[in-house]
Amino acid sequence: MTVPQHVAIILDGNGRWAKAKGMPRSYGHIKGCANLESLCDDVKELGISYLTVYAFSTENWKRSRPEVDTLMKLFRDYLKRCIKISDRNEMRVKIIGDISAFDQDIQDAIVKLEEHSARYDKLYFQIALNYGSRDEISRAVRKIAEEVKSGSLLPEEIGPNTIEAHLDTAGVPDPDLLIRTGGEQRVSNFLLWQLAYTEFYYTDIYWPDFNRAELVKAIDHYNQRERRYGGVREDKK
Ligand code: IPE
Ligand code: IPE
Ligand code: MG
Repeated sequence: MTVPQHVAIILDGNGRWAKAKGMPRSYGHIKGCANLESLCDDVKELGISYLTVYAFSTENWKRSRPEVDTLMKLFRDYLKRCIKISDRNEMRVKIIGDISAFDQDIQDAIVKLEEHSARYDKLYFQIALNYGSRDEISRAVRKIAEEVKSGSLLPEEIGPNTIEAHLDTAGVPDPDLLIRTGGEQRVSNFLLWQLAYTEFYYTDIYWPDFNRAELVKAIDHYNQRERRYGGVREDKK
């Protein structure tokens, strides 16, 4: 089995998972958050080097106030627990997205986790929080425009590498495999630039039920694909 170097996952279906059990949506988020812990252990064991998960989008603020509050509480707890998870898996954690929208204590917890885990390099774990690809690209363009304005960059020097270097994911290889749980088949403003040549895998399984066996199934599926770039096979690239 060839293991993809970078797996990205849209964690979807928490609410429907809870509803199917006659429980409130918040229960689905609690279970979904717990599932993220074992995912990191499984990903590390399988030898995947980069993992990126979509946990909260720029559009998710539009949900009801109680639901957003529940999610914020879960992020607070999770960011603290994640220090132990990073130690256990020798995993470096990076938050992608615009974190300036979060309460100060959440921003502080993010900085603490990123600084603590910067010593590790066995697994690189990106968590997308208040992330939207259009927002990320807009912020990148703004930074590039500032450089042009200050004279440190010429317009004719701007190319794909310039854009890449100003994204939140700068320096991280593009995902090889994107998994979306919960049955929807859309990209919902996730990594639009980075997914240019990524293989997509959709499953009806709701996120709280997505376990190691489901991950292995997704990787098996990925292995059956012949990766092509512009009509050329990967090994001929
Ligand atoms: C994903 O589950 C978690 C977040 C987006 C925060 P949902 O909350 O979107 O669950 P469904 O899609 O409504 O079932
Ligand atoms: C995508 O799920 C965003 C996250 C998983 C964080 P949503 O449930 O918010 O997306 P849509 O509304 O189905 O596109
Ligand atoms: Mg959803």
